[in-house]
Amino acid sequence: MTIPLFKYFPELMQQIPRTDIIPHATPVGYLRKLGAALNYPDMWIKMDSYTASPYGGNKPRKLEFLLADAIKANKREILTVGGIGSNHCLATAIYGKKLGFKVHLLLVPQPVTEHVKMSVKLFSYHGAVLHLCGSYRQVDSFVNSFLRCNSDTYYIPAGGSTPLGVLGFVNAALELKDQIHGKEIPKPDHIFLPAGTCGTLAGLILGFCLAEIPVKIHGIRVVDEGITNVETVSHLINGTLELLTASGCKSVSGFDMKSAYTLHNDYFGKGYGEATPEGEEAALMFKSLENIDLEVTYTAKAAAAMLSAVKSHAVSGPVLFWYTFAGPVFASLSRKIENSIVPNEFRRFL
Ligand SMILES: Cc1ncc(COP(=O)(O)O)c(C=O)c1O
Repeated sequence: MTIPLFKYFPELMQQIPRTDIIPHATPVGYLRKLGAALNYPDMWIKMDSYTASPYGGNKPRKLEFLLADAIKANKREILTVGGIGSNHCLATAIYGKKLGFKVHLLLVPQPVTEHVKMSVKLFSYHGAVLHLCGSYRQVDSFVNSFLRCNSDTYYIPAGGSTPLGVLGFVNAALELKDQIHGKEIPKPDHIFLPAGTCGTLAGLILGFCLAEIPVKIHGIRVVDEGITNVETVSHLINGTLELLTASGCKSVSGFDMKSAYTLHNDYFGKGYGEATPEGEEAALMFKSLENIDLEVTYTAKAAAAMLSAVKSHAVSGPVLFWYTFAGPVFASLSRKIENSIVPNEFRRFL
């Protein structure tokens, strides 16, 4: 299958490495019951839970390009970093192993929830080597010394948010363009999604611009301001533009990113991974009306922002929720995994 990025920009095909992790476009859906409950019958969803099997969500979109780059660079091991409940780390463990890499995860503590306990077990179950890191401030020095001693290692920064990773979401925006043209969904006027390391957000902003689809993108900040901010978004977009230009792509000039998106700060709550009352209410509505599972860290906060915008008439026209979570796919598996599989220093998180 030719992915939309290479269909619209064939000059990139020889330049940009890609592995085939995502077999086809993810489905779009109509949120009929939610729309009826809110008297807003124009709510839609892009189900990125179906990006890849066995573990979907937004991460495989980035890893398709990042792991291909690691193969191209002839590396044998991968190092990446995230919280002890990081979905990015889990996805990297799974798809890195599948492609023959030994995967190292540098993990930073976060509030312990059921999701975190499950993640810690799943990292080990999928064969990753776990390294505990006291705080994000210590990440750089760990990574630098690890890479000095292990030259066979390809480093993927937190969340896979590098220009190559961002390309996964440029591709995703072009994928939605095809679905709009195919009349699977109306052109959205607003798109809501969680913003952490901002690669997903940056890719969609740039992708819809390249797709020439005017849409307002709402990134909901779910990580500390030091990481999730407009400078991070600009930096990623500029880096990706440079990568596209260096790869021979000619159609990327005249891009006004500022008016294309808003970064919302009001739904973060007490901290990363901490539930908020509005998020819990949104999760309840999605579950009871649409049977869609939201988790507290990312999707519940983004959904809360979307529901608030709809209820307060801050938006009009078709609204799309970009669902970035894999869903509770490993819930029953993780219950069967023995705690003893987890290295000693991580057992206190179980
Ligand atoms: C379910 C989910 N949604 C959204 C995000 C945020 O994506 P990004 O880091 O690209 O901003 C993450 C990141 O871990 C995630 O796991």
